[in-house]
Amino acid sequence: MENIDINELSADEWDELMFPRPAEQDFDRVVERAISRRGFMGGLLVMGSAAAVFGAAGFKSSTALASQQTRFAFTPIAAQTDSTVHVPEGYSWQRLVSWGDPLFSDAPAFDPANGVPTAGSDRVFGENTDGMEMFLIGDNQVLVVNSEYTNNKLNLAGNKEGVPASADEVLRLQQFQGVNVLEITEDADGWKVVVDSPFNRRIHHNTPMQISGPAAGHDLLKTEADPTGTTSLGTMNNCGSGKTPWGTYLTCEENFNGYFGATAEVSGDEAVLAGYKRYGINTKVEPGRYNYHGFDARFDVSKTPNEPHRAGYIVEIDPANADSTPVKRTALGRFKHENAACAVAADGRVVVYLGDDERGEFLYKWVSRDIYVPGGDTSTLLEEGVLHVAKFNDDQTGSWIALTEDNTGMSAAEIAIFTRTAASKVGATTMDRPEWVAVNPVSIEAYCCLTNNSRRGVKNDDGSVRTNAGGDAMTVNAVNPREENGYGQIVRWRPVRGDHAANVFEWDLYVMAGNPAVHAEGPMAGSSNINGGNLFNSPDGMVIDSTGLIWIQTDGDDDNEGDFAGMGNNQMLAGDPVTGEIHRFLTGPNGCEVTGLCWSADRRTMFVGIQHPGKGFPDADGLPRSSIIAVKRDGNALVG
Ligand code: FEO
Ligand code: CA
Ligand code: CA
Repeated sequence: MENIDINELSADEWDELMFPRPAEQDFDRVVERAISRRGFMGGLLVMGSAAAVFGAAGFKSSTALASQQTRFAFTPIAAQTDSTVHVPEGYSWQRLVSWGDPLFSDAPAFDPANGVPTAGSDRVFGENTDGMEMFLIGDNQVLVVNSEYTNNKLNLAGNKEGVPASADEVLRLQQFQGVNVLEITEDADGWKVVVDSPFNRRIHHNTPMQISGPAAGHDLLKTEADPTGTTSLGTMNNCGSGKTPWGTYLTCEENFNGYFGATAEVSGDEAVLAGYKRYGINTKVEPGRYNYHGFDARFDVSKTPNEPHRAGYIVEIDPANADSTPVKRTALGRFKHENAACAVAADGRVVVYLGDDERGEFLYKWVSRDIYVPGGDTSTLLEEGVLHVAKFNDDQTGSWIALTEDNTGMSAAEIAIFTRTAASKVGATTMDRPEWVAVNPVSIEAYCCLTNNSRRGVKNDDGSVRTNAGGDAMTVNAVNPREENGYGQIVRWRPVRGDHAANVFEWDLYVMAGNPAVHAEGPMAGSSNINGGNLFNSPDGMVIDSTGLIWIQTDGDDDNEGDFAGMGNNQMLAGDPVTGEIHRFLTGPNGCEVTGLCWSADRRTMFVGIQHPGKGFPDADGLPRSSIIAVKRDGNALVG
């Protein structure tokens, strides 16, 4: 651990270090292929309950998917290890926007050696692009994009440690993160930002927010600066995204815990301290990665103990109004939110699937009380309803357990603030780090990337199995079937009656990543749809396009050695939900994570996020810069 530079780690890596169907016959083929992986079944049988995943007589859903042909409009590409982007023959890419590019004409010019100064750091595109969504507002294409975290050594020119040493440096980091709203347009030269568009906006760690829902006004949210507990500053560690049916953006606060610290010993309420422990709030008197607390008392839990309770939520933003106040929707729970995948249930209620990305944490589902009526009142849809948590049974069935006062012994506000604790009380299934959930627009089903879990099934010295921070054992189970899972898997589920609001579902594993070249047999070889041509690890970002193709983005080990030999750089692949085939579409530059995906309004351009690239991207010289690229197909053909 001494050799690790925390400034070189992604937000997820740093947090992990620091804290603690298609037509039935088609689907059955996928399962059979998974069973037929040489030696795979044997490996599962050794693991006991996990054998049930593939031991059941297939997936019994009667829901039919619109008939689809296997189809990929590209020839898969090879793994790469260089410092640029590769796309298939017949496709091309260009850079749309990078960290430090101006959104307003009064922004300072980006200095290739020193980046951007504090004055103006809120007038440029932020760092480390992540989830994004496209909104067509009138004739304007408005892209809303998260800036998840900062690489401090890049942002703090001259600061060799990369730990802020002044209020000015803290402010610069605060202003490079959050959310970017930018109008973009395409002309003969390609896509570009419309500088000074009235839609353009930067939302960062000091932007005023409204707090709504069950936690609003609760004592645990009150601070000296906000005695009402209903307004806060900033949205933190904005990871994945979501788009509501009514045209608003959902940004997801993930590793918010990492911004807090203490300048004196922390004592106080037992429930508050227990919450710090469950959510990994650092109470040690040390600078940490961001050292916000050294210069901004709001982030010092020895002075402002309730501030951490005001982050970790889904935040709704209206991209059509640059003056609107973002709203923290506490009804959707407080945890390390990855993304927010919306669906409309059979009766019109709104469903939002939500992952909590930490080892052994849970998968959630929000169901609104009221129905969505296009053009009607949408103000209650993320306010009034029920949050559920997933329980996956080993027989490939599962249920969504409602988090209620009766079954948790907690008030609605407490459930909203300490959601993890509530979910532990009802026996939710510990998962291998739920990253993005994607809802299939052409079939009633959803998928979730379970990126990896180094501690799954690992035993302590006393023989007990490792737990999550709440004490729930991370025992190997059918949906998380591998010990020390370094590769990850994608689970999919189908609600009964084809209704996303239903509280019972059937599930299977769409893919188990692996490496059959290194592990000739056993579970680490991966499922049968993994082969020498599509090796990858750590599925993370995921979006299903309008045709039902699954786009999978990775955030994993890219050293291309050992267990990861042949996988190359992080990448984006496309998966066919019917046949299970997975083909590699894009490779990112060395060091990067590929995350964030959306399309232009005409679906003739695909926008892909390249986060924390290594040196040499996008330019051979100068600082590496997180960027969004635009991918096009020859002849301006459709790309999704
Ligand atoms: Fe920000 Fe779990 O990824
Ligand atoms: Ca992610
Ligand atoms: Ca990740």
